[in-house]
This record gives sequence, structure tokens and C-alpha cells, in this order.
Amino acid sequence: MKGLILSGGKGTRLYPLTYTNAKQLIPVANKPVLVRVIESIRDAGVDEIGIVIGQTGPQIQEVIGDGSKQGVKITYIPQESPDGLAHAVKISRDFLGDERFVMFLGDNVIQGGITQLISDFAKSDWNSQIVLKEVENPTAYGVAKLRDDGSIEQLIEKPKNPPSNLALVGIYMFDPSIWEAVNSIQPSKRGELEITDAIQWLVNAGKRVFPHVHKGWWIDTGKPTDMLEANSLVLEELVPGIAVDATVENAQIDRRVTIESGAKIINSVVRGPTIIGENTIIENSYIGPFTSIYHHVTIQNCEIERSIVLEHSTIADIGTRIQDSLVGRHAVVRRSDDKPKALKMNIGDHSNLWVV
Ligand code: G1P
Repeated sequence: MKGLILSGGKGTRLYPLTYTNAKQLIPVANKPVLVRVIESIRDAGVDEIGIVIGQTGPQIQEVIGDGSKQGVKITYIPQESPDGLAHAVKISRDFLGDERFVMFLGDNVIQGGITQLISDFAKSDWNSQIVLKEVENPTAYGVAKLRDDGSIEQLIEKPKNPPSNLALVGIYMFDPSIWEAVNSIQPSKRGELEITDAIQWLVNAGKRVFPHVHKGWWIDTGKPTDMLEANSLVLEELVPGIAVDATVENAQIDRRVTIESGAKIINSVVRGPTIIGENTIIENSYIGPFTSIYHHVTIQNCEIERSIVLEHSTIADIGTRIQDSLVGRHAVVRRSDDKPKALKMNIGDHSNLWVV
């Protein structure tokens, strides 16, 4: 079996972070979501993986490379324009050949990995397996309507009046019958070749499409609130530990805290689940729970909870607790006593600042 990861898309809902960074490269618990996706495919025993890339392709290639760091072989497949998930499958034909494959959207995070799903599909005679999850806002997703016997009656992309609350998770398994499907469908109202329509085509053609209803959590990390939610959920599952070359001086570190290599925690309190990245300095501060501080960050005289701070940023001397926040790379948030005493901002396009 082969793997196909879709990693195009501009991530507009995560602006400004995604002006300069592919959304799939934003870390959750200090590891880019895309790396988590690659690792879960690898852990299921699939080591030949194609990644469909768009405008942010060069960045993705720079971080992921040939896949040897993750123990897999990566082939990049450029998609010239964002013409839909089924279009991404179409252009991957040469890479996939006539093998069965698993397709995983590069911004999805799922509890428990996909090892069981892949093994169920490998043992079956199904033409396709899809993953469904009950959600509160089905209009934002592809939605499935099942019959009483559990078989699929209908699949619709982002319906105004959803026939159920079962959303299509961004993990799909196919055999070569998908080729006729993606070649037979027409672009949707939003002008894209929808994978949802291709699967509906398989159902209509009498192919065996098995719907697996996922019981654990699943996050499509499209918006800042989703990133914070995914971060909290993944942190809860992290095996904690303090790197041997980390420095901890006069600090209270909770049991569920991970401190990575070269980090320094001085005169501080860190509550888990939390992760502190490589060569980051935390001084006179309170961090956590549910917080991920990435590498080469400096935090002094601050309190931060349920937040993600990206690399090379500095947060210092802020008198109010920082919470539910996403701080990008090379950002500086600092108290200043310069006159006139005022709020001074130098924030990017599409940024949000909530002042108390
Ligand atoms: C895509 C699919 C949708 C699916 C979702 C899962 O939506 O079209 O059917 O439910 O991924 O993440 P998009 O992220 O393109 O809006």
C-alpha cells in the first residue's frame, strides 16, 4: 500500500501565521502537524508516501526533505492550482499506479493513529474505506447519511441542511476503482473536483465503501481555536520527560511536562501537560497547563496558559496572564515603560489583539 498526503492549500483562516508558514507546518505539541501525519502513516506500515504540494511547496520540501528523518521515502507531487481533493488524486496517478492507497489530509490530527484502519482495509475486499466522526457543525464538512444497516446512502460536501451529524474525516482508503470515479465527476459549485463526489460515484456504481465511525477525537486544524484544541489533546497524550542537558534551577516542574534539549527553566512554575522546546529560556514565569513553547523562545516575568508560542519569539514583563493565544515566529511581546505610556503595536495583516 502507498500513502498520499494532501498538503496544498493556503490556510487563510490561520492568517497571519500562514502568510509566512504552510499551515501543515504549524506545530502541535512542538511537532508540525504534517510530521504527525507522516509518522502515523509510517507507524501503520506504509513507507512510500506522496505529498501533493501547492504554493507553500518549497517550505514543505525544506522541512520534510526526502523523508529519511521519519524513515519513509517521500515523492513530491506539485498541484498547479487548488482544484480540489479529487483533482489532487488524479494528478497522483503516476505515483500511485494500481496500488491500494491511504489518503490523509495534511492538516488533520486524529487520536490513536490509523494502524487499525489500514489493517482492516488491507484484510478486506472493500473498494474504499472512509472515516466518519460525529460533529456539532456538520455544515463545515463533507457529511454522510447512513442507512439503518450502516451502509452509505449519501455523501454531500458542506451541505446547508445536513442529513446527519457524521462528518467525513480527512482520511480515506481506496483501491484502483477510484480512478474511474475521479475521471467521471464534474467540478462542484465551488469549482473543485470533490473527493466526496468521487466516493458518492463509487457508492452509486455499487462499489463496496465501508464507513468506519471513529470514536476518539479528531481535529481539522483550520482555525486558531482548532490549533489550540488539537494542541491540548495531543499534549495530554505526550509521554513526559526532561532532556538530560536541560537546566532546571529553583523551578517547580509538574509530572506531565516535557522539557526538550538545551532548555533552561529558572525560578519558574511549569504545570502540565506542557512542552518547552529546545534552547528555550523560561525565567521568573508561570507556564501551562496545555501550553507548547517551541524552540529558541525567551519568556521572562510572564504567566502563560493554554497557548502556542512559535520559534525565536520573546515574551517579557507582561503584567496580565496570557491565555488562549497563538504567537507566531520571531514575534516580540514586551512591556515598555517608555513615554508616552501607550499601547504600541506593530502587528501583521489579519492579526487579532484582545486588550484588557
Ligand atoms: C475537506 C473535505 C471534507 C472533509 C474535510 C475534513 O474539506 O472536502 O469533505 O470533511 O476536508 O478535514 P476542506 O478542508 O477542503 O474544507
